[in-house]
Amino acid sequence: MRIVVFISGRGSNLEALLNKQHQSTYEIAHVISNQLDAEGLTIAQKHGIKNSYVLWDNPYNGEQRATELLQWIKPDLIVLAGFMKVLSLDFVTTFKQKIINIHPSLLPLYPGLNTHQRAIDGRQKQHGASIHLIDEHLDQGTLLTQTIIDIRPDDTAITLASRLLPKEHLLLTETVKLIAEGKLTWHNVPKLNGKPLIKPLVIV
Ligand code: GRF
Repeated sequence: MRIVVFISGRGSNLEALLNKQHQSTYEIAHVISNQLDAEGLTIAQKHGIKNSYVLWDNPYNGEQRATELLQWIKPDLIVLAGFMKVLSLDFVTTFKQKIINIHPSLLPLYPGLNTHQRAIDGRQKQHGASIHLIDEHLDQGTLLTQTIIDIRPDDTAITLASRLLPKEHLLLTETVKLIAEGKLTWHNVPKLNGKPLIKPLVIV
């Protein structure tokens, strides 16, 4: 399965996918960044993966350039891993059912930014990350998988984010592996091994 990963920064989720790709049937074909100085681009280069910086000066131009690249690369799956742009309905429709995103909260709780602080402020006992399909609404597409951690009384947004990050890496690599192996599908409803998923699959 050929994958394009979209990033905007650090790229630790991209790196986790790259480190595990030899153990699965997926292949990172290309990395696209809307930030020229994204650390993730250096990671892609270090791994010998083709990569492109796309100038996203406005949503229309950015998406136009990304679309041209994608129509040439023809990926089976597009993974948004720390990609900080909202995609339009047009773009999502062009690549319908092909885009997944990793989001650092237990969706539907806390779509958007500052999720760790908001989970603490909301006095949640648990926090986590979710992988979902991208649709035209921000962080609201069909949920596929989640990972969950306990929030400790002394947690700050920083400690919570740093304890969650390795779990995110596992969540993303295991989810992509399941998709690549054809075990996790979503033609009408999400299914695991052919059985409908009533709630997101928890991976810990
Ligand atoms: C991760 O927390 C991911 O859940 C969120 O953005 C962050 C990206 O981190 N969407 P990295 O660039 O993969 O290190």
